[in-house]
Amino acid sequence: MSVYLDHAATTPMLPEAVSAFTEALVRTGNPSSLHSSGRAARRTVEEARERLAAALGARPSEVVLTAGGTEADNLAVKGLFWARRAQDPARRRILVSAVEHHAVLDPAFWMAEHAGAEIVLLPVDSDGVLRIDALAAELEAHGDSAALLSVMWANNEVGALQPLADAVALARRHGVPVHADAVQAVGQVPVDFAASGLDALTVSGHKVGGPMGVGALLARRGLDLTPVLHGGGQERGVRSGTLDTPSAAAFAVAVESAVAARPTTAPRLAALRDRLVAEVRRVVPDAVLRGPADPSLRLPANAHFTFPGCEGDSLLYLLDSAGVECSTGSACQAGVPQPSHVLLAMGAGEDEARGALRFTLGHTSTEADVDRLVEVLPAAVERARAAGLSGRPRAASAAGEGR
Ligand SMILES: Cc1ncc(COP(=O)(O)O)c(C=O)c1O
Repeated sequence: MSVYLDHAATTPMLPEAVSAFTEALVRTGNPSSLHSSGRAARRTVEEARERLAAALGARPSEVVLTAGGTEADNLAVKGLFWARRAQDPARRRILVSAVEHHAVLDPAFWMAEHAGAEIVLLPVDSDGVLRIDALAAELEAHGDSAALLSVMWANNEVGALQPLADAVALARRHGVPVHADAVQAVGQVPVDFAASGLDALTVSGHKVGGPMGVGALLARRGLDLTPVLHGGGQERGVRSGTLDTPSAAAFAVAVESAVAARPTTAPRLAALRDRLVAEVRRVVPDAVLRGPADPSLRLPANAHFTFPGCEGDSLLYLLDSAGVECSTGSACQAGVPQPSHVLLAMGAGEDEARGALRFTLGHTSTEADVDRLVEVLPAAVERARAAGLSGRPRAASAAGEGR
């Protein structure tokens, strides 16, 4: 059995979520149908909506179910832009932090190419944290032309928690709606939609022990959001498509469990992570920890390093063949590793960025996992260094690693 240190890419489904999923899978009924089976499916979906809302500090009517985090991010960026611009044509700037996930960055760039938007990439510091002074200056100068601001709750590569409360306060003064991608934050740090003051927030099922292909956009009551998917008018017309009853049920159970368990799992994983960081530094003294050094400023289950002189992908394959699964945290394109846009935005050089490796823990992680990593890492680093930065991995990669 491999040691799995890639929970930020996806984490095993929780047993209670599997039960909810399989129970609902064998029942027939479209939640939009009016007969008994349809009404029973509708009850399952609405109960899931209530549980999701309760776990995340939202109202049930604020939960828009989607087919995952990527769709929710697309709906937020495109839906907020179109709605805000329809109210005020001068508002065409999309403000995003430079370290957003591609599920936010790419729709924003698409809107610039196809829908008359202008992108403002907000800089981060060397820890990967949004520079609030830069946001303040941007809003001061161009607040009247901003359509939306999107800043993630926590970064998926280096684990940096973002100064959301400050960002929301600033944006509010300028009438700019704020979206946060909280895909990596839920179950790791407290996430309360109402208390956050956010207008919209993204959650994904498979990062918290639920199924893949389900997620939600929490959209504040009264928020104007132009639909991206048109059809049967489900989800109050914001997101058409037959509701996925089994996924909704399992997603809700997973979020509820992950949020309820957080007060015990987060400190346990943070302690394990701290040991992982200390041990990696002991066996590879020149490994550079990326993201905030203060453990309270990063996700409890995230450790991210760059290994000088190594190609991250080579290290990944060497560790994989030694039975340890982890991630470089960034995408491959056509099998060629790309330096991470997050590390580059943090000021790392291209060569440094290419030596990145991310270890992320989750509910199944144990001390033995860390022991195994520490056992096999030095030899893998030595071999990767011998191959050097030109020693590209040979294994064919998919066009975009799961993150
Ligand atoms: C921060 C962040 N946002 C969005 C996504 C995409 O979510 P999903 O896989 O549910 O589409 C991911 C997953 O990789 C992520 O880490």
